[in-house]
Amino acid sequence: MSSETLDRGLVLDAVRVTEAAAIAAWHLVGRGDEKEADQAAVDAMRNALNELAIDGEIVIGEGERDEAPMLYIGEKVGNGKGPGIDIALDPLEGTTLTAKAMANALAVMAWAPKGTLLNAPDTYMDKIACGPGYAEGVIDLDASPADNVRAMARAKGIAADQITVCVLDRPRHTEIINSLRSVGARVYLITDGDVAGVINTADPETGVDLYIGQGGAPEGVLACAALKCVGGQFQGRLVFRNNDERSRAARWGITDLDRKYVLNEIVRADAIFAMTGVTDGALLKGVKFADGAVHTHSLVMNSSTRTVREVRMKRPL
Ligand code: FBP
Repeated sequence: MSSETLDRGLVLDAVRVTEAAAIAAWHLVGRGDEKEADQAAVDAMRNALNELAIDGEIVIGEGERDEAPMLYIGEKVGNGKGPGIDIALDPLEGTTLTAKAMANALAVMAWAPKGTLLNAPDTYMDKIACGPGYAEGVIDLDASPADNVRAMARAKGIAADQITVCVLDRPRHTEIINSLRSVGARVYLITDGDVAGVINTADPETGVDLYIGQGGAPEGVLACAALKCVGGQFQGRLVFRNNDERSRAARWGITDLDRKYVLNEIVRADAIFAMTGVTDGALLKGVKFADGAVHTHSLVMNSSTRTVREVRMKRPL
């Protein structure tokens, strides 16, 4: 078992990895091929990870070994000589956004000491999140969306119709959206990318107060790592739709299928979180090629020091 805090010097290593994935994906922006874009980001991220002096293990990756030849869950990365690190990654968060040249595609990754990230199976997760500065439990996954809006409005000292809630635009969210609108909340619908959707709640400039809805469980773990760095609350419950998904849970040692997880149960130690924009978005600019150089825009955060660094990289072509 390694120490509960990663060396702060690792933050630069982490952001180099998301930069590499974002640049690789950028070449496929707007070309209509989600798989190719994802593969380019996966290859670049894997190569960048394998150059590092870390003893890394993928705990949230591209899928299980039989379905993902690279960055599969359990794959070892790095040269094996450095600190033991649990790695959660999504080399391309927003494959459709990339293929269609839409806003908010990102390369994202989180690191935490070995054995401290939830081994979430590749299922859905019901999620609720808010930003920092509120009493613990102000939001509750088991309360109705309308009640969560009312609670958040009370906590902020404003009317419910001043609350904005980010929700993935999916038919499965119709009831949630109706419940939110029944109390006058503004619903900010996104077509994809709920890692950014959750992080938006911690960034006052986005105007988003809450995130509610069902998205990927891996994306839930990544978003938790980011909120652990910047503050905020998150609750999630894994959603198992069939026996295959339930057997995945058993493989990862999950016995209580209805468990409601809070942030510190998903990310159990200090984490480093890095993300680089692929296309322009609310949080980050996308990759640009200009003046004979490639430019990237990233955020890298360290929960042990509560540091958030904005990193702009420029490298001659
Ligand atoms: P991909 O980049 O893997 O396509 O994921 C995008 C995403 O929107 C995630 O942010 C979100 O958690 C998930 O897909 C939602 O899944 P679905 O599209 O099945 O509703």
